[in-house]
Amino acid sequence: MTQARQHTIQVVAHRGASEDAPEHTLAAYMKAIEDGADALECDVRLTADGHLVCVHDRRVNRTSNGRGAVSALELADLAALDFGSWRDSAESPDWDPARGQTPGEFTSVLTLERLLELVSDAGRRVELAIETKHPTRWAGQVEERLLHLLKRFGLDAPAADEPSPVRVMSFSARSLHRVAAAAPTLPTVYLMQFVSPRLRDGRLPAGSHIAGPGIRIVRNHPGYIARLHRAGHRVHVWTVNEPEDVDLCVRLGVEAIITNRPKQVLAQLGRL
Ligand code: G3P
Ligand code: CA
Repeated sequence: MTQARQHTIQVVAHRGASEDAPEHTLAAYMKAIEDGADALECDVRLTADGHLVCVHDRRVNRTSNGRGAVSALELADLAALDFGSWRDSAESPDWDPARGQTPGEFTSVLTLERLLELVSDAGRRVELAIETKHPTRWAGQVEERLLHLLKRFGLDAPAADEPSPVRVMSFSARSLHRVAAAAPTLPTVYLMQFVSPRLRDGRLPAGSHIAGPGIRIVRNHPGYIARLHRAGHRVHVWTVNEPEDVDLCVRLGVEAIITNRPKQVLAQLGRL
């Protein structure tokens, strides 16, 4: 078992428990909650008729039985697709019939609104890390719709001195800047695939509060994590699936691990 650090590392289910169930489906998120994940990660995109849906890729081709760009499809078009059949059904959890629910609803397109409802009804605290995908294409509409929806759930203006149940993540500093301008107390996570030279000292772009380096940065530049901490930033690392990477994150004292395998990571951390 991995030696626990002083603080509890938050375990975040990446696209849900996406190793066990099709990513971004209700099945994957319900499994993650059942497994004990502290938080859920999701990517959001706007449909042609302005709904925020949880889909990673620009197109639906990889994760559904349909074709086309999310931005060119309406919610009703997406609702007619199956987002589960691309995965081997033998891997899907078998707990759904016991709840009197139909398998179809577990693998249809998931709106962010439905995911917010799921989290609200979880019966325990489950946080949500929402990633805006390709927000520049929509010139602020993604953030506007997102904040509007969060407001409906009373989640857009968390108390500044308490941990927020929701945070917004992005590779786009501009997207996070827009969010921070409109919702100053909502935490934002700046995602990084590499460390840009102007940020090497541990600073983050304006409007970004938390650092979100990929695991490759952590493996190759562990000293950078210490710099981020010294600069006063929490560090949320993605996507951490291998036990040795979990160990590394623990040694470096990161605050959150984003993983496709929440149950295995929780077990490694001695929390199951
Ligand atoms: O949690 C951040 C991570 O999800 C970013 O990469 O491609 O999986 O969205 P991606
Ligand atoms: Ca993501």
